Amino acid sequence: MTQQTLAIIKPDAVGKKCMGEVVRFIEQSDLRITAMKMIRMTKAEAEGFYAVHRGKHFFDSVTTFMSSGPCVVMVLEGAEAIARWREMMGLTDPGKAAPGTIRAKWGSSIEKNVVHGSDAPETALFEVRYFFSEMEIIGGKE
Ligand code: CMP
Repeated sequence: MTQQTLAIIKPDAVGKKCMGEVVRFIEQSDLRITAMKMIRMTKAEAEGFYAVHRGKHFFDSVTTFMSSGPCVVMVLEGAEAIARWREMMGLTDPGKAAPGTIRAKWGSSIEKNVVHGSDAPETALFEVRYFFSEMEIIGGKE
C-alpha cells in the first residue's frame, strides 16, 4: 500500500553536516521525497509535535533539543513508507540500531539520533499536517 510518512533530519545531523548524506540515503531507496523544507521549531512547536510523549522523562530534554537548531522536515512516499522509513532509520537507540541504518551510521545518543519517522498511519497524518499544507506536497505519480 502506498503511504506517506513524515521524516525529520534532526538538529544534531544538520549541525554535524550529514543532512546531505541522509537525503542521498533516501534518494537511493525506493521512497520518494514529495515535500521538504528547513525549519527551526520553537520549544512550544516541538512540544506540540511530541505531545504524545508529554509526561515522559525525556519530554523536556527532547523538545529542548529539537528546538535548539534547524531541522529538515520531509514527506516520504512509497510502498509501506512508514515501516520502510523506520527500517532505514534503525532503532531509536543508535547503539542498538542494525549496522547500515541511518542511526547506526550517524547517531550519537538515544536523543541525538539523527532522524525521526512517524510510527503509524494516524501519527503520520498528524505529523505531515503539522508541518505541511496540501499545496506544499507534490502529488501524483511520476
Ligand atoms: P523520535 O523517534 O523522534 O521520538 C521521540 C524522541 O525522543 C526519540 O526519537 C529520541 O530522540 C528522544 N528520546 C530521548 N530519550 C528517549 C527514550 N528513553 N526513549 C525514547 N525516545 C527518547
